[in-house]
Amino acid sequence: MISTILSSFRISDIFYLLIAFVITYVIQYYFKYFTRPNPLPGPLPLPFFGNAHQSIGLGFNDWLLSMHEKYGDMYEIYLGERTIVLCRADLIEIMNVPSAKTKYPYRFKTTEGFIEYGLNRSGLAFNSELKTWKCNRQFFTKAMMTPSFNYQAIEWTNELWEKMESYWNNLGEDKELDLTKWMRRFTTDIIFRITTGVKNDCLTSYYNTFILENNDPLNEKENDESENLIHSLNKYLSGVSYYFIFNRFMRHYVPYVRGKGKDLLKNRDYLFDRLYNIIKERRIEIENTPLDQPLRHDMLTTCMVANTSRDINAVKHADADLLRPMTDKEIFGNILDSMLGGADTVSKLFYIYFIFFYALHVQKFISFFFF
Ligand code: HEM
Repeated sequence: MISTILSSFRISDIFYLLIAFVITYVIQYYFKYFTRPNPLPGPLPLPFFGNAHQSIGLGFNDWLLSMHEKYGDMYEIYLGERTIVLCRADLIEIMNVPSAKTKYPYRFKTTEGFIEYGLNRSGLAFNSELKTWKCNRQFFTKAMMTPSFNYQAIEWTNELWEKMESYWNNLGEDKELDLTKWMRRFTTDIIFRITTGVKNDCLTSYYNTFILENNDPLNEKENDESENLIHSLNKYLSGVSYYFIFNRFMRHYVPYVRGKGKDLLKNRDYLFDRLYNIIKERRIEIENTPLDQPLRHDMLTTCMVANTSRDINAVKHADADLLRPMTDKEIFGNILDSMLGGADTVSKLFYIYFIFFYALHVQKFISFFFF
C-alpha cells in the first residue's frame, strides 16, 4: 500500500508538498507570534531566521543598542527562541542577587549552539548544570584563595609590569602608545601565566613590531605562538555571541554565516588543543617531580594536585564529590574560563583607570592655568 503511494509520487508532487509544508510552518509561526503572552515591542521576526539576520554587518552590541533606541528599555527579539532584552539597571537587579534561593540561578541556557562551541557542562561562566558548576566553583575558589597562589600572582604581575614599562621607556617619550593594544597583551600574558604557569610573551612580540633591531629577540615561532594565542582567545570570545545569535539552520545553511561558523570552529579546535596539551604536559611534569620538591603555584597546578597527596591546602568538605581529584575536563573548563573572564575585563578596567587618571590631571592642569 505504502509502496504504491510512494511510487505514484512525481517530482512536482514533492515540490507541492514542500510548499505546503513551508506555508503551514509560516502560518503556525506567525499565529504563535501574534498570540504570545505579554507581548513586548520589538522587530518582526522571520520564520527560520528570527531576528538574527538583522544583526549581520552591525555587530551584536551595536545592533542591541540600535533596538534599545527604537523600542525602549524592555523589548523582545527572536534568536532561536523568544529573548527579552532588559536595558535598565533596576530591571535586572533582582537577577543579580547572590542568594541560593534566587529565581534566576542560571546565567546562560545551554543551547545546542553553545554545546557545538564547546561551552558545555565545563567551567563556570557558561555551565548551567548546577552540580558540576558547584563543584567547579569550589575548586576555582580554592585555587584562587590559596596564599601561595596569590603571592606568586602578585610577584609575576609586578615583574611583567616592570617589563612593559621598560619597553615604553625604550620606545621614548614621543612614541604614541595605543593602550588598548598594550593592556590587552599585558592581561593576556599575565592571566595565561597565573592560570597555567606557562609564559606567553605577546607583550614582547608586540614590542618587537616597533623596533627594527631587536636585542632580545624571541624566535619567529615563539612570536607567532604568542600572538596566535591572543588572537585565538579574542576570536573565541567574539564567537560566543555568534553562537548565541544564530540558530542551527542559519549556522549550517546560510552562506557567509556558515563560513564564519567554520572559521570559529577551527579556532576553537586550535585553542582547545593548546590548552589540553598544556594540561597533559603539566601532568607529566608533576608525576616526574619527586614528592619532596615543591611545585610552582599557578592555578593549573593547584587544580591538578587538589585532593591528591601533593595537596598542601587540605580542606574538609561535606560534599563527597569535592574529595576527589579534578578531571582534565574540569581543569580545562576552569582554565578557559579564567582566561576568557580575566583578560578582556581587566584590560578594559585599565583603560577606564587611565582615562580617569589623565582626565583628572588634564582638569587640574586646565583649572591651574585658566581659572
Ligand atoms: C575588572 C575585572 C572583572 C570584571 C568587571 C568581571 C565581571 C564579571 C561579571 C559581571 C560576572 C558575572 C557575574 C554574575 O553573573 O553573577 C563575572 C563572572 C565570572 N568572572 Fe569575572 N570579572 C572580572 C575579572 C575576572 C577575572 C580576573 C577572572 C579570572 C581570573 C574572572 C573570572 C570570572 C568567572 C570564572 C566568572 C563566572 C563565575 C561563576 O559562574 O561562578 N573575572 N565576572
